[in-house]
Amino acid sequence: MVDNIWTEFARSYDAICSQLNCYRRMAAKVLRDTVGRKYIIDAGCGTGLLSQPLVERGHTVVGFDNNPAMLGLALGKQARAPEEARRRWKVLEGDVRTFPRGVPGEADAVLLNNVLFYVREPEQVLRQCLEHLKPGGVVIATGPRQRPDLRKVMVNSIEEWKAEGRWDEPLQAATAYHVDVTRRLVTDPNEMVTFFEPDALVDTLRRLGFSHALAADSDDYYGENYYVCMAR
Ligand SMILES: C[S@@+](CC[C@H](N)C(=O)[O-])C[C@H]1O[C@@H](n2cnc3c(N)ncnc32)[C@H](O)[C@@H]1O
Repeated sequence: MVDNIWTEFARSYDAICSQLNCYRRMAAKVLRDTVGRKYIIDAGCGTGLLSQPLVERGHTVVGFDNNPAMLGLALGKQARAPEEARRRWKVLEGDVRTFPRGVPGEADAVLLNNVLFYVREPEQVLRQCLEHLKPGGVVIATGPRQRPDLRKVMVNSIEEWKAEGRWDEPLQAATAYHVDVTRRLVTDPNEMVTFFEPDALVDTLRRLGFSHALAADSDDYYGENYYVCMAR
């Protein structure tokens, strides 16, 4: 387990990300591209923000993360889920560079949702995904195309919240804290280290042995993020 900037993010992650329309739109694409895919690995699952709706929809999900604070929140959600859902949801400690032993292979999908930007060895992570997927299974990877324009993302998000009447005091307080930590994340060259254009990620995945892209765009986070879904 590692104590890093995600320990600070754990304090505001769910309060902000669950409210961000750009996160919601990306999550909707993940839900779209996992329809009918029974067993899903959520690599770098964080607080379980994506695992939870997948479990609620009936999937079997194994999530893992290496930050104790983020993982603690995911474990809490798993523990509070109804018993039947709890049986389909495993939350483990682990590193995306070498998936933990408790993660079964033959997955129908592996998620890397906003995770690759934090690792210096993205190809090692993508190889792990390939090894844990059944033929026809998909990896879904999202993240920044370049060092992101935080101001643009927040200005657009706040405009949307205001238009929807959601820009209340609790959200303003959580946003102030979250933006402060995010500013450090996006500006420190030792924090955000890996960026992809969608086409470059598709080429990399093909070179590593993946077969074909089902989706590849740079629409998310107001054009700042890539979204790639590629089949083994
Ligand atoms: C932006 S959060 C995304 C969380 C989750 N995937 C989501 O969509 O809400 C990034 C997560 O990646 C995790 N992470 C970063 N590097 C990791 C690594 N090498 N192994 C496991 N988890 C990692 C962090 O701890 C953090 O929880």
